[in-house]
Amino acid sequence: MRCWCVRLDPALLGLLAACCALCAADVGDFAPCLNFFYKAWPPKGLTGTPICQRFSNRYHFATLYSRPRRAPWLSAYVYSVPSGKRPADCWKFEPQLAYPGADGNMAPFPPGPLDQNVVESQAVEPDYIHSSYNRGHLNPSLHHQSHERRLATFTLTNAVPQKMGSNQGPWESLEQVVNKSLSAFCLGEAYVVTGVIPYKEDDRWLRNHRVAVPEYLWSAYCCPEYNQSLPDWLRDAFPTYAAIGRNDPNSTEEIVPIDKQAKKAFLGYDVLRMPLDTLEMHLKDRLSADFSVFYEQCGKSDPSREN
Ligand SMILES: *[C@@H]1O[C@H](CO)[C@@H](O)[C@H](O)[C@H]1NC(C)=O
Ligand SMILES: *[C@@H]1O[C@H](CO)[C@@H](O)[C@H](O)[C@H]1NC(C)=O
Ligand SMILES: *[C@@H]1O[C@H](CO)[C@@H](O)[C@H](O)[C@H]1NC(C)=O
Repeated sequence: MRCWCVRLDPALLGLLAACCALCAADVGDFAPCLNFFYKAWPPKGLTGTPICQRFSNRYHFATLYSRPRRAPWLSAYVYSVPSGKRPADCWKFEPQLAYPGADGNMAPFPPGPLDQNVVESQAVEPDYIHSSYNRGHLNPSLHHQSHERRLATFTLTNAVPQKMGSNQGPWESLEQVVNKSLSAFCLGEAYVVTGVIPYKEDDRWLRNHRVAVPEYLWSAYCCPEYNQSLPDWLRDAFPTYAAIGRNDPNSTEEIVPIDKQAKKAFLGYDVLRMPLDTLEMHLKDRLSADFSVFYEQCGKSDPSREN
């Protein structure tokens, strides 16, 4: 597919790093992009490198990045009703992970050999080529209205190695269900957080210990203001909704059982919807004892709310 982004000369990168020391830092601090989190409260319980995802000089979402995994822990965004087509794949990287003084905008991969500091600091396109894994968006382009915001999701700092059976099967269905439910019944802002659960032991990697493969993907939304006349299929889908998806057919069935009747291509890549409590229980078990996705579980304890 043709990539229509502006190309960045590799020599320019070093130059940017040298002369842009005064630019705002978008890596290392969520302060400029707290608006992508419910109540400006990033999920609690994980340590990583915060990235305010800037593209064309605007912030579009936020990512908690793991440098050792060269992959995101999670991305957080505000949903908007999509329109138009998915943009052509044009993958970008985060110059500030390689050069703290570089420009804060994500940049398209330049043609030709890659800067070694970029390669060391994050995933690059060759990591995924011939790997049997897709570049799975955590923040999907289809949950956004503007073309620019959709383009901004195509950064490898927002992608994890995802099997095609998940990415083009049950996980894609989940993204569509969330799209349908939020577009039809969310009346205010919908805050979405999507992340990964690593293997318990024996991490799997792309190439030679380069990019860590997640065992599961998870996602949750918080929509505090919603239409109370919900249809049956969305009963209990507000104000919060959560799910975990398999990324490995060989995983045990303790967290997400396998539907043996599924189409062969999607067999073992099931996504299980669950209450936010249950998702947090699994995240506490696998990631960190004090994991919390949304501030006060998206206001569940708000006494002014009926349920
Ligand atoms: C997302 O929802 C909107 C509004 O309901 C709809 O027009 C659009 O087709 C949906 N997109 C996908 C990919 O399902
Ligand atoms: C709420 O949903 C019902 C249908 O379930 C619809 O008739 C009504 O117009 C909606 N209200 C708002 C404020 O969107
Ligand atoms: C699952 O296990 C089989 C047999 O051990 C192996 O061939 C296959 O590659 C494994 N699948 C994944 C996704 O690891």
